[in-house]
Amino acid sequence: MDSATISNLAYLVAAVLFIVGLKGLTHPRSAVRGNLLGATGMLLAIVVTLLQQEILGFELIAGGVLLGSLIGAILALRIQMTAMPQLVGLFNGFGGAASALVAAAVLHQAVVALSSTAAPSLQFRVATAASGLIGAVTFFGSIVAFGKLQGLVGDRPLRYPGEQVVKLLLLLAALLCAALIVRNPQQISFYWYLVAAGSLLGVLLVIAIGGADMPIVIALLNSYSGLAAAATGFVLSNNILIIAGSLVGASGIILTRIMCKAMNRSLANVLFGGFGALVEDDQQDDVYAGKVTATSAEEVVMILKSARRVVFVPGYGMAVARAQTPVRLLSELMEQDGIEVEFGIHPVAGRMPGHMNVLLAEENISYDKLREMDQINPAFAQTDVTIVLGANDVVNPVARETSGNPIAGMPILDVDKSRTVVVIKRSLGAGFAGIANPLFAADNTLMLFGDGKKMMDELVAAYKEA
Ligand code: TAP
Repeated sequence: MDSATISNLAYLVAAVLFIVGLKGLTHPRSAVRGNLLGATGMLLAIVVTLLQQEILGFELIAGGVLLGSLIGAILALRIQMTAMPQLVGLFNGFGGAASALVAAAVLHQAVVALSSTAAPSLQFRVATAASGLIGAVTFFGSIVAFGKLQGLVGDRPLRYPGEQVVKLLLLLAALLCAALIVRNPQQISFYWYLVAAGSLLGVLLVIAIGGADMPIVIALLNSYSGLAAAATGFVLSNNILIIAGSLVGASGIILTRIMCKAMNRSLANVLFGGFGALVEDDQQDDVYAGKVTATSAEEVVMILKSARRVVFVPGYGMAVARAQTPVRLLSELMEQDGIEVEFGIHPVAGRMPGHMNVLLAEENISYDKLREMDQINPAFAQTDVTIVLGANDVVNPVARETSGNPIAGMPILDVDKSRTVVVIKRSLGAGFAGIANPLFAADNTLMLFGDGKKMMDELVAAYKEA
């Protein structure tokens, strides 16, 4: 067996490990194993690639690995859980940039060697142009998405007359450069014009979308980074890069779809709708004036003590306050008293897919108690107390309206059907969509105002004393 066959067989094993790993990621129980399988596949792919004879020296690679590991370790240690979406966004961007740069280097090499070797194949030329364009869009789009989520770039969508025409013209210019590269790869300058047009397109595409939609955009850019990697796989004729890139491309687009569906939005509406502009909400006073009932930890504990079934509904505020530990403590205390406790998880609660599941899993809360929206909604009517902790939009009843507000039509957790709702948050401030929430003024709602962690700690202490 020659070395090419051996490495292709090893790549096949790596590809199977990626796919089985991805399958494992579909359930929290198998997620850790899935992650390990995927990582093993990647290790195998890297080792096989490094053992190929074309690699002339390992010094630069070792330097890159060391530098990358150092930066990665620092980022992983310092990053806040709430800043995870922008970190993922940045990683996608680097993937896109790497694809565009690798394609550029290989194109350069091919052109230099042109006098002694045959002209590059059509596959090579098309794939090079695709890597350059998609890689540039991904890198600059991701940088803008990062800037928006990090508060470095304005949150509001930047709209101007004729913006779609400008973007269309840029795309046409980029495609023209791509065609010129495909026709004559020796004109390397067109590759860089293509990258420049793609970069500007990436900036303009993302800057027109509100900060609110950035997590969806990041999932989409994740898909683009996979497509760019797959294109680079064709440039290098590297099967594992083609497979891994395609898997990333496909899973990114599936995730984008899931997020759009959970927010009742179409992808076109996200990309071109300009949603995410902060909504000026003048109706707060009408909704809340004189109708909000504030409560104390002691009063809530009295209600909890006589409850038979309690549901926690966590949201973004639980992540910000890092309140998951007292949530577990209180749930354990109540269970010791024979109270049935469950957790209602909305698919877009928090700021990234699975945000709440990850935080609750950190506390070793059993997966069996985490209920998805469709499972838990019918059970709210039989729930004595629902504790809404730092959630807002995902429990806002105005979403049941068919139009007239930014979350109209979004499926929500029907917490208002429970006997008593306790909402823990710092103020009557709006959530992500920027609108008032009539749940806070409902007759069966009690507001426990304060930081999520502080209030949960108070509830735990009061429960122990009662
Ligand atoms: P939000 O509607 O964003 O509400 C979070 C609430 O947490 C705020 O109203 C805030 O009120 C409260 N809060 C903030 N800091 C707090 C603290 N330290 N202690 C206690 N409360 C605190 O959250 P949600 O209900 O989870 O909804 C998520 C939103 O994000 C949805 O609109 C969803 O569409 C959007 N979104 C989600 C995703 C994913 S994938 N999860 C992606 C894109 C967009 P106070 O300021 O009064 O405390």
